[in-house]
Amino acid sequence: MTAILEVRDLVVGYNPTLPILHGVSLTVAAGEIVTILGPNGAGKSTLIKAVAGLLDITSGQIALMGSDLTGLPTHEMVRAGLGYVPQTENVFAKLSVEENLEIGALVNRAAYAARREFVFGLFNDLSRLRRLQAGKLSGGQRQMVAVGRALMADPKLLMLDEPSAGLSPKLAEVVFSQLRKICAAGVTILMVEQNARAALRVSDRAYILAQGENRLDGQAASLLDNPEVGELYLGAGSRLSR
Ligand SMILES: Nc1ncnc2c1ncn2[C@@H]1O[C@H](COP(=O)(O)OP(=O)(O)O)[C@@H](O)[C@H]1O
Ligand SMILES: [Mg+2]
Repeated sequence: MTAILEVRDLVVGYNPTLPILHGVSLTVAAGEIVTILGPNGAGKSTLIKAVAGLLDITSGQIALMGSDLTGLPTHEMVRAGLGYVPQTENVFAKLSVEENLEIGALVNRAAYAARREFVFGLFNDLSRLRRLQAGKLSGGQRQMVAVGRALMADPKLLMLDEPSAGLSPKLAEVVFSQLRKICAAGVTILMVEQNARAALRVSDRAYILAQGENRLDGQAASLLDNPEVGELYLGAGSRLSR
């Protein structure tokens, strides 16, 4: 198993005197879809922001494909093969769809045309909408622009923070099935989700965080059947697979 991402004993916060993550570890292997679950405030977004190079690391290591990247700024993370789609404000609203994609390809201009064909192949709607302002699109379409922009840099690992947030259950399913296609095209995926059941159905494995610590992890299928997981998300007695 080749690890694309290896996070070891990560301690990080927004202020060095107040850690939010107290030694979190996580591994993502090539070709996997891995989901991070956990209650609100557990530190899920903080974890992927830290991996994306947006926070000062207090201690611990982050390695991408075996290279230590701990403490590198975001643009170097992008060059190293990491794509990050934040939960909100993830498109340039005043720019067209195509301009958003161009910005995503700035680290690798030579590949622009080929990457654009790849993104339009995945998201057929974006080709039709390419001259429209991203801010005028529906929530689902904007999410495609955000994911498409991250894919323009040809990432090895794509990290998404709640890609289904604010979408109808039907559109959320569309997003999840697109993630499967992206993964099949060779991009490993790490996402944060609140929509635990739907996310676990498309994932290989998942990690559950609580209060800035690893709480539980395992194969997605077995977590769907785990009563402890059901209690965390749906109240006592329920299981996610129902
Ligand atoms: N920009 C910030 N500045 C200070 N504290 C923050 C900031 N963002 C999040 N936090 C705090 O970090 C903790 C974890 O937040 P977050 O990682 O966003 O949780 P989750 O994504 O699991 O809901 C919370 O206590 C939250 O209040
Ligand atoms: Mg969050």
